[in-house]
Amino acid sequence: MMPSRPDGIVVAIDGPSGAGKSTIARLLAERLGYIQIDTGAMYRAAALLLSQAGIDLDDFERVEQFCQNIDIRLELVSGKQVVLANGMDVTDKIRTPEMSLLTSKTSALKPVRDALLKAQQLMGNRGGVVLEGRDIGTVVFPDAEVKFYLSASVEERARRRCEELLGKGEQITLAETIADVAKRDRQDSERDIAPLRQADDAILIDSSRLTIDEVLAEMATLCRKKREKLEATL
Ligand code: DC
Repeated sequence: MMPSRPDGIVVAIDGPSGAGKSTIARLLAERLGYIQIDTGAMYRAAALLLSQAGIDLDDFERVEQFCQNIDIRLELVSGKQVVLANGMDVTDKIRTPEMSLLTSKTSALKPVRDALLKAQQLMGNRGGVVLEGRDIGTVVFPDAEVKFYLSASVEERARRRCEELLGKGEQITLAETIADVAKRDRQDSERDIAPLRQADDAILIDSSRLTIDEVLAEMATLCRKKREKLEATL
């Protein structure tokens, strides 16, 4: 492999919430034999820690000091990815609609982004990883070998999220979910630091009318080609 990336290439998948990034990233990582890094889960875990500690989000110094001491890890336990925040398993707790909205707010804070940026670069710089998030191709790994921007219409993304939440027994309507998704889109793309944006060299994939298998097949082929091309030039 490349000397700078002994374990393989870095694959970046960015895009708005509900575009199917997590499912696609997991399946793509499985196909390539790579590790999946769900950076959204890391932002959610940081939001949970801040809220549990009762930190005033307007107090920059307090947030900064708190973030210097947080430890967020992703670990594979019996084939399932587990999110550990300061040693606590928070995998399920971070997946509520309230946590989604709170995370959209806390992920705009510089100390939170600085702490997680460093952790994500450390986790991925050897390569052999599929990272998904909002700023992977633009900020975390601007030199990623393959970048995708996965999108879908607001209505389609809200429909998928609503189905998922109803399946978990949450009481929510499609109209509420559309409003939530649109609000998070706004918060994620209008923030000052590392806003959601398609990198100039990212491949745009609109998943609105494609099945998971179709999206996956297209992405896996592109990754393989890139990997082979890089290996051939060594
Ligand atoms: O992908 P997700 O829905 O689990 O992400 C949760 C929140 O975290 C979302 O509002 C955007 C934010 N996020 C971010 O700002 N940067 C990332 N790299 C990943 C997620």
